[in-house]
This record gives sequence, C-alpha cells and structure tokens, in this order.
Amino acid sequence: MVFPEYRPRRLRRNESLRALIRETHLSPSQFVYPLFIMPGKMKREEISSMPGVFRISVDQLEQEAKECMELGVNSVILFGLPEKKDAMGTGAHAKDGIIQRGIKELKNKAPDLTVITDVCLCEYTDHGHCGCLIGDTVDNDATLEILAKTALSHAQAGADMVAPSDMMDGRVAEIRAALDENNFDMVPIMSYAVKYASAFYGPFRDAADCAPKFGDRRSYQMDPANSREAMREATLDVDEGADILMVKPALAYLDIISRLKDEFDLPIAAYHVSGEYAMIKAAAEKGWIDGERVMAETLLSIKRAGADIIITYFAKDMAKLLQK
Ligand code: PBG
Repeated sequence: MVFPEYRPRRLRRNESLRALIRETHLSPSQFVYPLFIMPGKMKREEISSMPGVFRISVDQLEQEAKECMELGVNSVILFGLPEKKDAMGTGAHAKDGIIQRGIKELKNKAPDLTVITDVCLCEYTDHGHCGCLIGDTVDNDATLEILAKTALSHAQAGADMVAPSDMMDGRVAEIRAALDENNFDMVPIMSYAVKYASAFYGPFRDAADCAPKFGDRRSYQMDPANSREAMREATLDVDEGADILMVKPALAYLDIISRLKDEFDLPIAAYHVSGEYAMIKAAAEKGWIDGERVMAETLLSIKRAGADIIITYFAKDMAKLLQK
C-alpha cells in the first residue's frame, strides 16, 4: 500500500493518536541523578558551568534525597570532593572519607534510595589521573588493588551498587573478587565499560576538581573514532562479571548505545555527561533554543537508541516535566 491509499499522517492527527502509537517513553525510575559531595556544613555551592547543579555537604543529602524520591527519581550516583589529595588517592578508600560518610548518611535518612558510587581515583589523586603513576604513566595493575579497596569500602559503608569509571584493564574482575570475598556478592557492578576520552567532561572536571595536572586520559579512555573496540571492551567486562554496561558520553555515541543493546543482553546505561548538560543550559539561557524541549528530545533519543538507564543532571527537571 502506497500513497494515496496509505497516508502516515493519519496517525499523527491529534495528540491522543500520537500517544497511542508512541514507541519510546521516559520514566523517572530509570534516571540516575549525580550528586557532588563536599566537606563542611550547610554547604550548597552552584557549579558555574552547570547551572542548577550544586556541590553539597553531607548534611544536605537528606533533603536532596527526599526531593529526588518525591519526583520518582530513586537512584543517585555519588562523586566526592575530599579534604586532601595524595599521589595514591588514598582518600578514595578512607573509612571516614567523604563518600563513605555520604553513603552512611543517605542509607540512614533515605534507606529506599538506591545509592550508586563512582569508583575512580581522579578526584583523590594530587596529579588528577585515574590511577597511581610510574613516572608519567598510569600503572594499570597497581591501580587495580586500590580500586578494589575503594569499591569494597563503599560496599562496607552501605552502597547499593558500585560503578568503576577509571578504564583500567581488569578492574571489573578485581572488584567482583574483592566484593565476593567479603560477603558483598549481592552488590552489582555497573561498569563504565565504554568510556571515551571526551571533551564533553569539561564542566565535570571543574565540578569535581579532577582535571589531570599533566597530559590527558587518552592512554586509558577510548578513542572516539572506535566502535568495534567498544564491543571488545564490553565483552571483557561481561566476562569479568559486570551486571550493567554503560556507554559514556551519550549523545555523540548513540550508535554505540544501539550496538551494545543489540549485541548484549545485560541492561544498558548511558551517561548524559556534564558538557552535554552545559550546552543545552547555555543555549537556552541565551534564548537560542527551547531548553525544556531540547532536554526532553535529547533524553528521548538516548532511550530510543537503547539505553535502559540514563544518568543525567536533568533527572529532576525531566521528572518534573513528566509530571505536568
Ligand atoms: C571520573 C569520572 C568523570 C566523569 C564521571 N566519572 C571524569 C573523567 O573521566 O574525566 C564525567 C562525568 C561528566 O562529565 O558528567 N573518572
């Protein structure tokens, strides 16, 4: 059947018909909201390149958690700004570290909130790289032990899920073993399996104070030009015991999200990163785009590409829009 017998516009005539045949839906329960935790009391600092996103102190977490849950956003991922940094990133696994205190506070005050932690050293090393160094290179194998210790300390503090973002080889297996040996066999690993060396992380590095002091992350994060390598990375993480596979960033890598969704049967997450958020906010502030509609269309496209879970700074804004 072709035109004029067949007319696709028939099913677009009004909103009720459009809703009837809509293929993709966004749900706040599949959003993860990132939280930046800083030292001090009663602190709430807006991040200049991420309007509407704040660094908050531990005592502010309860209010934040309640706000998220009232909107149906039941999961958060935590990033920490430690009091001090060192070469080995020891603050990442300190028993009373900023993240460990944050996890305890959240699990105390909002036990139903799913608390996911980012497992990486870049916020805790004085050189800003995601692992410890030998000379100027990041030492993969020595870093694994520190990452496993960090993930374990998060689980001990009460984290519901850990998410390694460092891109060291072999870290998923190392973390799985450490968790299992210590009776945390029910704590899932959401692996940043496919993480590209991206300029879209710029605002985050200001927010979390974790830009590398020399060089860049291209010797561990992936080359944006590669998609077959993404399948290889994802396969390794599946074999090592990942429970969820993540692609990061999202919008410039929708093809990768789609390929992972086709080729793997694990849940797929996408990280809609800081630079993606900042671009929409900035253009909207200038009046150049309709920020709300571009937000909704962007998140929908990530879902349509195949993401089951979307980590986004827009989680609360989008949830509010869905309630309208
Ligand atoms: C830590 C980490 C980064 C992001 C998440 N975890 C920064 C980086 O790799 O440089 C970026 C998140 C964002 O841009 O929103 N390694």
